[in-house]
Amino acid sequence: MADPTSTFLELAGSLDYPLFIVTAAKDDRREGCVIGFATQSSFDPARFLACLSRENRTYRLALVADALAVHLVPRARRDLAELFGGQTGDDIDKFDRCAWQPGPHGLPILDDCPSWFAGTIEARLNLGDHVGFLLAPIKARFAEGEKIVFFQSVKDAIEPGHPIA
Ligand SMILES: Cc1cc2nc3c(=O)[nH]c(=O)nc-3n(C[C@H](O)[C@H](O)[C@H](O)COP(=O)(O)O)c2cc1C
Repeated sequence: MADPTSTFLELAGSLDYPLFIVTAAKDDRREGCVIGFATQSSFDPARFLACLSRENRTYRLALVADALAVHLVPRARRDLAELFGGQTGDDIDKFDRCAWQPGPHGLPILDDCPSWFAGTIEARLNLGDHVGFLLAPIKARFAEGEKIVFFQSVKDAIEPGHPIA
């Protein structure tokens, strides 16, 4: 019989779901990366779970941040998914290469991602090689009808700046 872990990973890798760009800030530091491991987790209270790999620079800043911003990525701005998913802040300043404004808690809000929300971090959950950041939304913008980037459309095209696991 096939190894259950490899079959599970094959199954999970065949699923499709939106990609997000998560940004974090603390004092004058700011980081951000693409995530696919993310989901709404509650209606009332409204909660969202954003999972960050312990490998990522963004994770390290999220450990000391009060809040995170979560952006949907417009399909027309796939280049932003390449910047935030294919590069690491260990090597470059991603915020020198895109347009952004400071938002709640000083979080960088990307000008070209019109749908986003900011949420305070209610809990940090050990989920394995990723840590779940449970977010309580405090501000949100929604550009209804905009087509967004999904995992399957980029998974073979963007090499993560840091390994995912
Ligand atoms: C399609 C795709 C999905 C990804 N999903 C996640 C994820 O769910 N969580 C995560 O922490 N990193 C994820 N990554 C990896 C990070 O976006 C990537 O390693 C990034 O370069 C990290 O940047 P940083 O070191 O500046 O934080 C994903 C990357 C890609 C291309």
